This record gives sequence, structure tokens and C-alpha cells, in this order.
Amino acid sequence: MRLAVLISGRGTNLQALIDACAQPGFPASIALVVSNRSDAPGLARARAAGLASRLISHRQHASRESFERALDEAVRAVGAELVCLAGFMRVLGPWFVGHWRDRLINIHPSLLPAFPGLEAQARALAAGVRLTGCTVHFVREAVDDGPIIVQAAVPVLPGDDTQSLTARILDAEHRCYPLAVRLIAEGRVRVEGERTVIEAAPGGGMLMNPSLP
Ligand code: GRF
Repeated sequence: MRLAVLISGRGTNLQALIDACAQPGFPASIALVVSNRSDAPGLARARAAGLASRLISHRQHASRESFERALDEAVRAVGAELVCLAGFMRVLGPWFVGHWRDRLINIHPSLLPAFPGLEAQARALAAGVRLTGCTVHFVREAVDDGPIIVQAAVPVLPGDDTQSLTARILDAEHRCYPLAVRLIAEGRVRVEGERTVIEAAPGGGMLMNPSLP
């Protein structure tokens, strides 16, 4: 399955996908990396991996829809079948989300539906939850909403600050994103209503909670 990965920043989830795609037998490859920011460190990761990358800045477009049409054109031009948001900091509107329905996924650093939006880790700490985590989900129009594909639970430990908790969650993100892409690329994920159903692998065995060792 051909992927387009959309980034705005450091790109550690992009790196996790690059590393997964390099494993023999992984059922997906990255056809294009798009950043909306020229200074995104993730662009260097794409270059280092020899991947095609493009800068499509929202600043060069008068409207959200024209920005989204440019994104759509770019990902279509490379034959992408799945668009993966990996720290992409622009909200995508109904036009793009509708076009890519159930072929557009995102990763978020909380156990959705808890703590959608910015600074999810700091808000989890402030709320005093004992468990948080990360979620890979299909994208809907509401921010950080949509059918859940993979989640991992991460403990909040005594003495945690935002930095230590963020790092622990990020570690889980790097396992969850490749797993979600693998399940989709293997054709094992179906959206029913607003939930996903994951089919077991042939011969059984289904790794569904990557927070387990
Ligand atoms: C991650 O925490 C992701 O869950 C959120 O943005 C962050 C991106 O980090 N959506 P990176 O650019 O992949 O390192």
C-alpha cells in the first residue's frame, strides 16, 4: 500500500514509519512526505531515507480549500492510497476529510476520546489520570475524532512531568503507528458505523495492544 505522510515538525512518527517500511515483508511503502512548513526537521528524515518530499505551505494559498486541493493533487499524483497525519498541525476541513474518508489516519498522544486537542499530555497530568496513552484513528471533521484503530495505554508515574510523560507516550506512538498501517495495508480493518473491526491474521494471533511487552 502506498502511503503519503503529512508532517509539520520533528517527524519521529514519520521515522517510525520509515523504519517499519524498511523491514522485509512490511506491506506498505512511503510514496511521498509532505510538510506545510519549510523548517520541519522531519523533511531531513525524508531526504535521508531517499523519499520524495514536498513543501506545500498553507501560507501560499488564499483559502483552506485551495490548500487542501493542492495536498490532494500531490498525494494523488504519487498514487497514495492512505494518507497518514504525523504531527501535521493544520486542521483539515470537510472537503479533504470527505474525499479521503476511511483512507486518512492520525495519531494523537492520549487515549481518545479523552484529551483531544493540543497539549494532551499536560492536560492528562493536570487531571491526575493514572493511565493515558496514544491513539491511531481514522480522521473525521471534528478534531481528534473518528473510528479508533489502535491504542496503547501508558502509565502516569509518580514524579512525572510533561516531558517525561510525553517521552513515554511517544515511545508507544512509535509502536502503534506502524501497527495501524500494517493492519490497514493487510486489509484487516473495516469501519462499521463509527467503530473499526479488526480481522484476525490468518492462522490466528492478533497483536492488538502494543502497550503489552
Ligand atoms: C505526536 O505526539 C503526535 O501524536 C501528535 O504530534 C506529535 C508529533 O510528533 N499528533 P513527531 O513530529 O512525529 O515527532
